[in-house]
Amino acid sequence: MLILSEACERNKGPILEVLRTEFAASRSVLEVGSGTGQHAVHFAAHLPHLAWQPSEQDEQLAPLAERIRLEGTSNVRSPITLDVRDHPWQVARVDAVFSANTLHIMAWSAVRAFVRGVAGVLTAPGVLCVYGPFRFQGQYTSDSNAQFDRWLKARDPLSGIRDFEALEALARAQGLVFAADHPMPANNRTLVWRRAPAGA
Ligand SMILES: C[S@@+](CC[C@H](N)C(=O)[O-])C[C@H]1O[C@@H](n2cnc3c(N)ncnc32)[C@H](O)[C@@H]1O
Repeated sequence: MLILSEACERNKGPILEVLRTEFAASRSVLEVGSGTGQHAVHFAAHLPHLAWQPSEQDEQLAPLAERIRLEGTSNVRSPITLDVRDHPWQVARVDAVFSANTLHIMAWSAVRAFVRGVAGVLTAPGVLCVYGPFRFQGQYTSDSNAQFDRWLKARDPLSGIRDFEALEALARAQGLVFAADHPMPANNRTLVWRRAPAGA
């Protein structure tokens, strides 16, 4: 039986509306930490101009592959193994990267590796969209996010809601330019960085 994430069912519609704009000129997307694959199949079905490459850590790959096999449209590729800590990432270059609800799960050292990895695979021009909860200027955007962060840290002290400014500094150091902050339902955001065309 396929695993179903209720959160994915709720957030896939609003995220799709953002990706319609942000990935309008993109052709090839690498998704990092695809989880159940619900996002991959939904976005690929509604954005047929994209070739969507899901990925996961090795131990999570089998259920993801099963959903893609059963529900994926022809523009979703078979998922590949990718741990963001791999260096360099063994993936084809893409002009877009998407990741949802991953950066607060992985350790900060892995977040650094994520940004380094994205910079290594993203063409110029290229776009990075990251969905999830974030803090801004050291503040949570809601009490529920503060509570969620306490829950995350009790489970894994290395995890936690990330500070936008720290993430932005990592991205800037890798040549990515912050482009948009889309407020999303349930106190989440979709953050967007772009790599300018070569020579621009
Ligand atoms: C909360 S789940 C989100 C899954 C899916 N993107 C979603 O929105 O439902 C967090 C995901 O981050 C992935 N993840 C955690 N550490 C990772 C790492 N080092 N490399 C790649 N993915 C990682 C996990 O495997 C898991 O699928």
